Amino acid sequence: MRIFLIGFMGCGKSTIGRALASALNFTFIDLDTFLEKRYFRSIPQIFAEEGEAGFRLKERKILEEVSAFDDVIVATGGGVPCFFDNMDLMNKTGFCVFLDVDTDSLVNRLIHAKTERPLIKEKSPEELHVFIEGLLAKRRPFYEKAEYILKGSEITPELVVELFESKNT
Ligand code: S3P
Repeated sequence: MRIFLIGFMGCGKSTIGRALASALNFTFIDLDTFLEKRYFRSIPQIFAEEGEAGFRLKERKILEEVSAFDDVIVATGGGVPCFFDNMDLMNKTGFCVFLDVDTDSLVNRLIHAKTERPLIKEKSPEELHVFIEGLLAKRRPFYEKAEYILKGSEITPELVVELFESKNT
């Protein structure tokens, strides 16, 4: 089995993913980290040297690679579902869970986040709010192709674990 966690930057894919992987005894893969190791460069570096288009091509290649792994929980980057036919590939090869967190919570989390994210760097809280609202509206139709949609208030690692434990029995 393969589970893809999808959703906007800051929605908790990695936190939920780690908890889920340890509960199900699966391997946790953070797609961004996997990509950085494979290409020996950080995401900000790839964006700076090859632009977003170069990054998206690499992201797709890495997604194809992990789509063949067994018993993995994959935390995807927030843009993954919105490029190429990535969403179809994930739906075909695994279960997609969209972690649907509201804009205010995303802004709060991203203001305090330590990870460097090229798309939002140097934005003030006000600019960040406008940016997230706009991009989330564009991305939502892709995210909503997921088999499971969990709303902000319901998302806990325990709930996601329960969902898949019941699926396994
Ligand atoms: C991106 C999200 C990031 C990372 C890159 C682009 C996006 O991952 O892949 O900075 O387009 O939303 P996280 O969602 O893990 O922050």
